Amino acid sequence: MQLVNEANSLLINAKFYVLTQVGSVSRAAVINAIYEKALRLSSSAKQSSTMGETVNLMSNDSQRIYEAFPFWNTVWSSPITIIICVILLILQIGLATLASVFLMFCLIPLQIMLGRKIGELRRAMTKHTDERVKFMSEILQGIRVVKLYAWEESLAKVIYDIRERELAVIRTQACLKAVNMGLLFFWPVLVTMATFIVYSLDGGTVNTQNVFVVLAFLNVLRFPVILIPYGIATIAEGVVSAGRIDRFLKLEEISTAHRTQVAVGEDGQSGLEVVGGEFRWAKTQPYPTLENLNLQVKSGELVAVIGHVGVGKSSLFASMLGEMHCSQGRVNVKGRIAYMSQENWIRNTSLRNNILFGLPYDEEKYNRVLDAAALRPDIAILAEGDATEIGERGVTLSGGQKARVSLARAVYRNELSDVYLLDDPLSAVDMNVGRQMMYNCILGILKQKTRIVILYVPTFVACCSPPVRIVRSVSSDSPPVCCCCAVQ
Ligand SMILES: Nc1ncnc2c1ncn2[C@@H]1O[C@H](COP(=O)(O)OP(=O)(O)OP(=O)(O)O)[C@@H](O)[C@H]1O
Ligand SMILES: [Mg+2]
Repeated sequence: MQLVNEANSLLINAKFYVLTQVGSVSRAAVINAIYEKALRLSSSAKQSSTMGETVNLMSNDSQRIYEAFPFWNTVWSSPITIIICVILLILQIGLATLASVFLMFCLIPLQIMLGRKIGELRRAMTKHTDERVKFMSEILQGIRVVKLYAWEESLAKVIYDIRERELAVIRTQACLKAVNMGLLFFWPVLVTMATFIVYSLDGGTVNTQNVFVVLAFLNVLRFPVILIPYGIATIAEGVVSAGRIDRFLKLEEISTAHRTQVAVGEDGQSGLEVVGGEFRWAKTQPYPTLENLNLQVKSGELVAVIGHVGVGKSSLFASMLGEMHCSQGRVNVKGRIAYMSQENWIRNTSLRNNILFGLPYDEEKYNRVLDAAALRPDIAILAEGDATEIGERGVTLSGGQKARVSLARAVYRNELSDVYLLDDPLSAVDMNVGRQMMYNCILGILKQKTRIVILYVPTFVACCSPPVRIVRSVSSDSPPVCCCCAVQ
């Protein structure tokens, strides 16, 4: 008996250990699949799912899948255990078993009801907590204004009110949890009592032999009866989450079939080549954003791209990066691409880390990059130099400063990149800084690289090879299309 009990707990715990392990490996695989998919989503698919939803899939839905794993076996094995136990009980105490089974199963709807109520309260509590945390962080962000206008008391009152509502929900939830817990301990006693009462009313004799056997069976019966509703609910949640993840993983992807990327040193002269390209942002778009696109940029060449606002200059870069649907033509790239986007972005970290972006610090190279991106005067006025935290939580940089940090980030990885796509790097800076950036950086430190730069200023355009102009051809019976042509 002792050995059986020990083997039982050993095997049950081993089962939970293995299934939890499988669950966490599956969770990691699901997170990885979502991350990889997010990088391949087409532009139209990106519009149908927000960043918040993707993060939610990675954190909450993957967690639901992890939690469901330990219960897969319980759900099919519990009914078998219950049937065997009931048969053995009937053999032992006859029809009095029905009383115990009836009472045991009464616990299931009771538990489901309590579980639902606790879940509802948890959602209500999260709403209050979110509201409180959001309000509190807004107060902390604007603490200077709060102090200046002496709004502390009135704002504290608002926070206390929200907290009070939150606490009321927590209290109710705690009471329900206590009732639930109490039921779990009290119910087996009730079931045992009821079973023996019915058994003795039915004419049975209660003796040590059948008391111990019945107690042992009821004890075995208790575990699957408690676990079934919980297991079903957890698996149902896991299945719903798996469905959501499945829908995300089936979203439209960008095809890379039209794109070849060869290493530097392999055949061909061109650094970058687009032949007969026709590109759309969405597959369903009735007319292409870029059409009749023929462009050949030799290795080490500097090409300026010019054209009216909204004509498709940034789209040209997106087509080269493989972010648009290609309905015709092909793109050949020699080497790795470094891309500076038109919307400059910075991370919430120090200015230096924003430039290094994970690469090791090399003082000499770093200083050269700072000079090339004309960042030294800006660093000189920052309180802690390049160790100053920038971004939303730190010092806010001007548009021109952000553009130069982005350029410096791209330039710092010049050993890793062969082709530079710079989207309007000089738009947010004045003529003097622009000149420095053009001569020291684009024509200086990057002079060996293949460079395609979107530019507006004629003086700078003149420094490049004959520019590529993107024009919009509009005729009365055809929709507006862009074509890359007219080398000036
Ligand atoms: N991510 C995107 N998804 C869908 N459509 C886009 C996207 N980016 C640009 N477009 C569309 O492509 C067309 C060309 O825009 P694009 O940004 O390429 O112009 P641009 O020449 O770079 O303009 P600007 O001079 O203002 O930078 C526009 O009609 C725009 O609506
Ligand atoms: Mg643009």
